[in-house]
Amino acid sequence: MSEGIVYPGPKPLVEERRITRCSQETVDLGKEFGSRLRSGAVVALVGPLGAGKTTLVQGIGAGLGVNEAITSPAFNYLLEYAGQLPFCHADLYRIEDARQFFALGLEEYFDRDGVLAIEWAERIADILPPRTISLYLNPLAKQDEREIIVCLGPPHATK
Ligand SMILES: Nc1ncnc2c1ncn2[C@@H]1O[C@H](COP(=O)(O)OP(=O)(O)OP(=O)(O)O)[C@@H](O)[C@H]1O
Ligand SMILES: [Mg+2]
Repeated sequence: MSEGIVYPGPKPLVEERRITRCSQETVDLGKEFGSRLRSGAVVALVGPLGAGKTTLVQGIGAGLGVNEAITSPAFNYLLEYAGQLPFCHADLYRIEDARQFFALGLEEYFDRDGVLAIEWAERIADILPPRTISLYLNPLAKQDEREIIVCLGPPHATK
């Protein structure tokens, strides 16, 4: 068993922990989570390469009623979908910091209607809105197991 996430900052006051045992369980958790979101929600996904961030986002999109296939926006930075609410999925893997995020004009998405989910959100930790909900994904020792922790508040910067 894992000893759990080592948070980059102080441990959040409120958190919910789940273990998923395959990608479908992560999709299902995303659906459950996504179906409870309201317009204006910002969701930060934090976890190493291949942790399951995009998989979780696919579930969140399904929970928001997006019918299109949600693919990784790594080369476009951000893709937009229509569901019961507008759904934007950003991937900041290729972005180093907030300065670059602003240079691309991406901050306008914080003020859009709908839900914004951001992979590698810790890259812009300092400028995420205080209302941000963080989802930490932690691969466990067993190959397909992931610990997923939902926390109130933006993640802390990792550098
Ligand atoms: N419990 C699980 N939850 C999510 N994905 C899982 C799980 N078990 C195995 N996987 C596999 O791990 C991979 C996760 O890929 P995914 O693209 O979602 O990760 P990611 O965190 O978005 O990666 P990247 O950092 O490259 O964006 C998939 O191949 C998926 O099938
Ligand atoms: Mg991804």
